[in-house]
Amino acid sequence: MDEKLKCIESGFEQDLSGLKSISECESIRIKYLGRKGLIAELFQELAALPAEQKPLFGPRINALKNKLQQEITRKSAMFEQQPELQAGGLTAQFDITLPAVRGQLGAGHPLSLVLDEICGLFIEMGFCVVEGPEIETEYYNFEALNIPLEHPSRESFDTFYLHKKYLLRSHTSPVQVRYMEKHEPPIQIVVPGKVYRPDATDASHSFMFNQVEGLLVDKNITLAHLKGVLSVFAKKLFGPKIKTRFRPHFFPFTEPSAEMDVSCIICGGKGCRVCKQSGWLEILGSGMVHPKVLKAVKIDSKEYSGFAFGMGVERIAMLKYGVDDIRLFFENDLRFLKQFG
Ligand code: PHE
Repeated sequence: MDEKLKCIESGFEQDLSGLKSISECESIRIKYLGRKGLIAELFQELAALPAEQKPLFGPRINALKNKLQQEITRKSAMFEQQPELQAGGLTAQFDITLPAVRGQLGAGHPLSLVLDEICGLFIEMGFCVVEGPEIETEYYNFEALNIPLEHPSRESFDTFYLHKKYLLRSHTSPVQVRYMEKHEPPIQIVVPGKVYRPDATDASHSFMFNQVEGLLVDKNITLAHLKGVLSVFAKKLFGPKIKTRFRPHFFPFTEPSAEMDVSCIICGGKGCRVCKQSGWLEILGSGMVHPKVLKAVKIDSKEYSGFAFGMGVERIAMLKYGVDDIRLFFENDLRFLKQFG
């Protein structure tokens, strides 16, 4: 009996030092203190001992039982209070004075920043932001916008053709048509999105770039509204000192059409390399929505009129941030991108 008590006690010490988790504490408890555990076995053997030996061993078994109980409770309490001990075992050690490992913080992409800013300025003026598909049909990209097949103006919207009648939109203007088909005036939307043109890539051309389209249709809308909205927009984007001018232009889907220039934000209008000594920078195309476009979406051009505009986001971002190569936006070089966060 004496032998057995000692054996169980030393076995327990060993088991205890190898414990790695709360659940292991529980299995040890069952092994020693369970209904069919080692201690219960001892009590059974005690009952079979001669009467004079019982008082000798009875108290020792009881004492051992209490000790095991205490030890197990102490250990599981420790795991509960310091869960980190569980995984690495009791020997886990760490230097709390070491500096923490920092994750790299991301930052907004310069194009996203400019896109958000442009949309934000129009939202302030009551415009809603809507989007449309990048894969379009000839109808939405051309026909409904008064650009008939074989018409030379299709050349200026050189296009990536896909399967059958599908293509990658070459501007965001098809979203004007899609929106007007589904909504009645008053309409006041801006449309950010990617567009595609098979241009050879160089410092100022990319086969994919972003545009923001705008469309406002209501009763009695005139060129004065167009000029007002776009001048306010330019001043908010580039600063109150900026001047704007509207130059006559041609777009098949607007009549009359105009391009808007802003006074050069680099030289202030004196003339420099960026504005090619002209003092002006072309920023966007615009015009009054062509009656044929309204007709295609069944809006009565005698009752309603509207204006539309479209601008290139990369170009504006390049001017705003002084970036001289459009490819930098798409190369994902962190040294470039980190400068804008
Ligand atoms: N869609 C024209 C372009 O991509 C821009 C534009 C939009 C012009 C709306 C006038 C009105 O060049």
